[in-house]
Amino acid sequence: MKQEVPIRLVLVGSPGSGKGTQGKLIEKKYGIPHLAAGDILRQEVARGSELGRQAKVVMDRGELLADAIITSVIEARLEESDCRRGWILDGFPRTIGQAKALERWLAQRGENLTAVVAFELPDAEILKRLMGRLTSSVTKRVDDDPAVHQKRIDIYRRETAPIFGFYEGKKLLVKIDATGTVDEVSRRIVAAVKT
Ligand code: AP5
Repeated sequence: MKQEVPIRLVLVGSPGSGKGTQGKLIEKKYGIPHLAAGDILRQEVARGSELGRQAKVVMDRGELLADAIITSVIEARLEESDCRRGWILDGFPRTIGQAKALERWLAQRGENLTAVVAFELPDAEILKRLMGRLTSSVTKRVDDDPAVHQKRIDIYRRETAPIFGFYEGKKLLVKIDATGTVDEVSRRIVAAVKT
């Protein structure tokens, strides 16, 4: 389905909550690019760029890159021509600083977010999914490390969860029950976003 009105979605949720899985489905459904911050950084790591070298150290520790670095990477990507009809941001913003930077970037262009989709999933299920990805030869990622899973979840609670309140105040937050099958979660997102 091609969209006439640009859709600009943000997917927020803990590591392993299914943002990447759902982002790819939304990309297909609406024909707009799925921009996953982690994927962009892993591509830089694979290319061996200076950004990739910096990112690898931080990602291996399960920590977050500095706001200024990731913000400039994402803004540059959003300025590419395929983003004119909309986009799905996955894994950005991840801090209040990043959320404010995105707000300024949108305001400069007279644009708005359509919605911020918050994935809600109990910690036990999060860890189960992350372990499942780790043990699958299809989905396993280079930065998947059980030793840092809990740290990434803790950083998510401390640094990222506060952006829920930020977007709630702007009436953009849509909370999604992220339990159940991939199809069930996908249907909930489509119904909640109601484009
Ligand atoms: P990033 O790649 O963004 O990782 P993440 O947010 O921690 O999330 P994940 O990709 O681990 O999980 P997901 O929610 O996409 O779940 P998935 O669909 O894979 O970031 C990696 C690192 O980059 C960060 O730690 C940080 O260092 C750095 N970084 C990135 N963005 C940054 C930023 N903005 N600022 C600073 N640093 C940044 O699903 C997980 C598994 O579950 C899969 O195996 C999947 O098949 C399975 N699954 C999905 N849905 C279901 C379902 N409904 N039922 C059963 N299984 C399911």
